[in-house]
Amino acid sequence: MNLSSPLPYPLDDFDYRLLDSGEFQKLERFGSHHFIRPAPQAIWPKTLPDAEWKRAEGEYNYFKGKESGGEWKFFKKLPKDGWPLKFHELTFKMKPTGFGHIGMFPEQAPNWIWIDELIRSSDRTDLNILNIFGYTGASTLAVAGAGAAVTHVDASKASVTWARNNLELSGLGDCPVRWIVDDALKFLKREHRRGRRYDGIIMDPPTFGRGPGGEVWKIENQLSELMLHCKQVLSDSPLFILLTTHSPGFSALTLKNMILKFIPESCSGVFETDEMYIHDNGSRLHLPSGFYSRWRNESVK
Ligand SMILES: C[S@@+](CC[C@H](N)C(=O)[O-])C[C@H]1O[C@@H](n2cnc3c(N)ncnc32)[C@H](O)[C@@H]1O
Repeated sequence: MNLSSPLPYPLDDFDYRLLDSGEFQKLERFGSHHFIRPAPQAIWPKTLPDAEWKRAEGEYNYFKGKESGGEWKFFKKLPKDGWPLKFHELTFKMKPTGFGHIGMFPEQAPNWIWIDELIRSSDRTDLNILNIFGYTGASTLAVAGAGAAVTHVDASKASVTWARNNLELSGLGDCPVRWIVDDALKFLKREHRRGRRYDGIIMDPPTFGRGPGGEVWKIENQLSELMLHCKQVLSDSPLFILLTTHSPGFSALTLKNMILKFIPESCSGVFETDEMYIHDNGSRLHLPSGFYSRWRNESVK
């Protein structure tokens, strides 16, 4: 698999499009299925005519006055077991969820490419990568496809099953992936006690979440603790750290500062820190979709 793309945003070989955005909504195509979902950042007018928006087979709206938690209205019957979506050589199953997600965050696509290229260009053949808050596993698949071992952790058994299924769908079922249903903090503390170390850590913590035992995750209260435990499980010469969020009030610089505070002083490296976005085909604007900060160790090849 070679995920390199000459485009600033990898639209080729990706069967997803943001077709239009505006008036706090976005119109997207996931494979051959169209949906309207909330886009609180899209404060501008829509570009495409109503007839295009009417192609949507489902619309998700937040409950009145809320910015998360809502419900779907479907206008057509969708495949009961979901449908596949291609990203280069990876295949993800798509299916609307109660949270308004369809099973994949398209704004993460440049990060999957970055992970893929970093691992492929490394001379190391024994890389061991950790993906916490791994959801349906897109980043896990990028690591596995590039040839490194990966541990995928998520609190939701259903998400881990979905991620495993995506790995199989992508023809990577024989890759060395460890699947863990656990609370992120509990898992990291245990790994530290056991002396396990990782050469790269990927994390996309939610604003709020719960571990399988009801453990409460609040990003503003627990991100420092999470980073401290990540530091304890980093190998002596880690290859990379990737931290992304979709949490209001968490800027790209905040994420970079969190990594800076916790990477070992002996490591020199390069940061890339910016806004995540999805290119809008209708308006030609970029729809803001969270933040990322990623660090790679310059002294490791
Ligand atoms: C924003 S999603 C991650 C998206 C994913 N990284 C991607 O880009 O496709 C957050 C994930 O964190 C998981 N989660 C929430 N609280 C957790 C906790 N305390 N420990 C581990 N995972 C948790 C959720 O089940 C969910 O799958």
